[in-house]
Amino acid sequence: MPQHNTEISPDLLSAIRDRFAHIDLCPQQGPRVFFENAGGALTLKSVVKVSTELSAIPDNQGRDNPASQELMNIIKKAKTDTMLFLNASSGQVFVGESGTELLFRLISTAILESPAGGNVVGTSLEHPASRSAAKRWAKIAGKEYVSVPHDNETGSVDAEAYAKYVTPDTRVATIIHTSPVTGMGVDIASISATIRSISPKCLIIVDGIQHAAHGDLDIDSYNIDGYAISPYKVFSRHGYGIAWISDVLSVLPHNSLEGGPEGNWELGTRDTGAYATFSEVVHYFEWLGESFTESTDRRDKLVAAGKAIHAQEKSLTDAMIHGTGNLKGLADMPGLNIIGGLDNHRREGLVAIHHDSISAADLVAGLSEQGIRVHIRKDDHYSGNVLTPLGLPACVRVSLCHYNSQHEVAQFLAAMAEITKDA
Ligand SMILES: Cc1ncc(COP(=O)(O)O)c(C=O)c1O
Repeated sequence: MPQHNTEISPDLLSAIRDRFAHIDLCPQQGPRVFFENAGGALTLKSVVKVSTELSAIPDNQGRDNPASQELMNIIKKAKTDTMLFLNASSGQVFVGESGTELLFRLISTAILESPAGGNVVGTSLEHPASRSAAKRWAKIAGKEYVSVPHDNETGSVDAEAYAKYVTPDTRVATIIHTSPVTGMGVDIASISATIRSISPKCLIIVDGIQHAAHGDLDIDSYNIDGYAISPYKVFSRHGYGIAWISDVLSVLPHNSLEGGPEGNWELGTRDTGAYATFSEVVHYFEWLGESFTESTDRRDKLVAAGKAIHAQEKSLTDAMIHGTGNLKGLADMPGLNIIGGLDNHRREGLVAIHHDSISAADLVAGLSEQGIRVHIRKDDHYSGNVLTPLGLPACVRVSLCHYNSQHEVAQFLAAMAEITKDA
């Protein structure tokens, strides 16, 4: 029976956790709490199963035999499922090598095939995947690259910031949906509306890689031309990325076989297993949504799942920051600092912290000793864009998903209290 709120009950949480591989046990380390979801989320057991099954099939696509036909059906279904997941009623989806590779492909095509001259606008909040692609191809195409500074206080970037840098001859703009360092979301629809109010034909490419696991994807409302995700960060496996492109971007000249089908962006033989695993991800979100809506409409279920995921992640990060039971939260630990502030409505399941006198590396090692998996982000080519302006050499990224529990947050806080007690 659906619950008429967004709260994940203890029974439902058990059922959710049962669907993921290695939920509380690392094959190398033993029992552990997994708070490194931004580096790669847990994998659905159904993904492991379907991936294994399909890797054993020798047949290729496009042949006149039943096995080949089945592979084609699986790909077709996965494309439909993915379009629904993204809420994209036009354009197309396809898989590539990784999120990074797809961002490079989308951005290079947009820059090379947009009218000569003009500029390319991106933000300092972006991951180097989109920033490197935009800078490199802007240079090759003889366009100026313009960087919109993000806001150190909020750990995000907004439409007003883009408005100061976008000009009528901005040909391509890039946006990140959620920062993998601060964990803060970005309002894509409002930024794209602002960009288009200044440069209506600008091609807009979004890096959705850190956002996708948090649900609530709605490409129809964004008015953009490209969106990339990395399925291993959304409960699938490594080895492929997924891109959505608009009808406008689809028809631009791009890397493809001479004489091949029009509008085909796939390069080479497709991995049917990759497609099949993403169908499993979409089925999972639908299954989760069924606990929160009576609607039988697939999209309604996905929307309901997104709301429940957001509520669960918020309750976990609130507990982490403000405490749970008799355990002090991070906000009350002396010397402990939280990037982006305490009560930031943009937060998506991630808390980035640093301590006045304990190094990030020591915090990560101390937590690991107590069976808690988190990750250091250093002032390097991945995270320097966020950490350098804050004057930080490193921070500790604690990243959650909806399958994490209050009990795990309590374990984390107890470990943090122990590590920081003499500092
Ligand atoms: C926001 C963002 N963009 C791009 C990437 C690169 O993704 P991939 O390694 O799947 O290509 C990451 C990976 O951490 C990311 O978090």
